[in-house]
Amino acid sequence: MIRYIAGVPLILFLLLSSLVESRQIFDDFLRLPSDHDFPRSNDVDDDQIGTRWAVLIAGSNGYWNYRHQADVCHAYQVLKKGGLKDENIIVFMYDDIAYHEENPRPGVIINSPYGGDVYAGVPKDYTGNNVTVHNFFAALLGDREAITGGSGKVVDSGPNDHIFIYYSDHGGAGVLGMPTVPFLYADTLMNTLKRKHASRTYKSLVFYVEACESGSIFEGLLPEGLNIYATTASNAVESSWGTYCPGDYPGPPPEYETCLGDLYSAAWMEDSEIHNLRTETLKHQYELVKMRTSNGGSRYGSHVLQFGDKDLSKDKLYMYMGSNPANENFTYVDNNSLHPPSSKAVNQRDADLVHFWEKFRKAPEGSQRKMEAQKLFMEAMSHRIHLDHSIKLVGKLLFGIEKGPEILETVRPAGQPLVDDWTCLRTLVRTFEMHCGSLSQYGMKHMRSIANLCNAGTTADQMSEASAQACPSVPSSPWSSLHRGFSA
Ligand SMILES: *[C@@H]1O[C@H](CO)[C@@H](O)[C@H](O)[C@H]1NC(C)=O
Ligand SMILES: *[C@@H]1O[C@H](CO)[C@@H](O)[C@H](O)[C@H]1NC(C)=O
Ligand SMILES: *[C@@H]1O[C@H](CO)[C@@H](O)[C@H](O)[C@H]1NC(C)=O
Repeated sequence: MIRYIAGVPLILFLLLSSLVESRQIFDDFLRLPSDHDFPRSNDVDDDQIGTRWAVLIAGSNGYWNYRHQADVCHAYQVLKKGGLKDENIIVFMYDDIAYHEENPRPGVIINSPYGGDVYAGVPKDYTGNNVTVHNFFAALLGDREAITGGSGKVVDSGPNDHIFIYYSDHGGAGVLGMPTVPFLYADTLMNTLKRKHASRTYKSLVFYVEACESGSIFEGLLPEGLNIYATTASNAVESSWGTYCPGDYPGPPPEYETCLGDLYSAAWMEDSEIHNLRTETLKHQYELVKMRTSNGGSRYGSHVLQFGDKDLSKDKLYMYMGSNPANENFTYVDNNSLHPPSSKAVNQRDADLVHFWEKFRKAPEGSQRKMEAQKLFMEAMSHRIHLDHSIKLVGKLLFGIEKGPEILETVRPAGQPLVDDWTCLRTLVRTFEMHCGSLSQYGMKHMRSIANLCNAGTTADQMSEASAQACPSVPSSPWSSLHRGFSA
């Protein structure tokens, strides 16, 4: 064990050096042509709008995921300044960040190096173990009776109302994370949205999603005609990105050992904060967010996509987010320095490692803290290696040395859903986890491979046999532990 630990710093260094290699700075980033000036007309009035509702969800917990809850708190502040009422904003967040022992400013959460506290005033509707898929769906459907725990606040909307949903967390093909399992599966989300539509309790609904592979949540699944317009931080096969990370420019204040925000989320919120939303359309915001999130087309950026009823993107943001009266006379801010490119955006899936590494790097030599950071890093790494290895092996056991990897890596053409049989997907996920341990946040990366096994006709029995062979036992790592339950 001693020898093992002594070798760790070198391993850490080698692993991390791939994360922090220098990135290109793009100087022409987000230079907005001055012809983007909006006419100053307040052509939407409150009467025709009905009530604005919002559901804000941070799907993670843990200090290394600081940014997701920071995003959601920030979104609350944007909507609140826009004039939405607390009774119409439903917040789902684990709430373990503000008073976390690692938080350098107790009771304060920031979402950008420039911004102030975003935590004050945020309603704690659903926190801790009450942040579940079940409660999210019940809240959206306005089904108070189905809610378990929390404030009981639901979207009690009528036919003229507008609903805005914003989600931020880790994701994988077909799934979004939740701090309390199971994950949110795209098929059940679609069913819920269809039920909401059938209940005629909204005029239109806008859904913003920040997560890895978030395009896969709607791709081939969200039909037109539901009056729903969605945008996602990434396409169906790529990561989304954390921003304001240690080592980044602009980075967090030096006492922060974690990313403060996410690229797509910072892009829409920082845009909404500086504009008169009575005049800016969803489409315009989509274009701006798409440009900023691409991070100059570098590999440290992602492709923002739009889905559903794209006609709705002609709507003014005001219909969903309200507008801060202080921005009433803002026409357009053509200011590059407001949005410098993120020089070291961090892949969502690596942000936990960045936190453990920062903690390790800064802790005094020989301290308890250093040992602890090292242990956390190693546990996360060994969980990754275990999962990557086990999935590959399962594929080979089922389909052979050559065909196995090919099947696991298949990506269906754009416009097709990830999987045909979602029940199969859930079953195979459970079966795999029973033998190999929890997928947890990193393991969402392998959802597409498991979906491909379903698409190739793998049965639960075959999966069980292969998983048992690949994983003689569930590793003792806390990440692998099934004490919190199955992901499916
Ligand atoms: C869940 O909600 C119930 C009811 O409001 C509350 O008593 C409980 O403390 C909540 N649990 C957590 C972990 O926040
Ligand atoms: C916007 O401009 C009008 C007219 O000049 C002025 O009366 C109003 O106070 C301004 N609003 C803000 C928020 O500055
Ligand atoms: C642009 O932004 C920078 C930094 O936020 C600020 O110092 C400067 O005054 C701004 N310029 C304009 C024209 O708004």
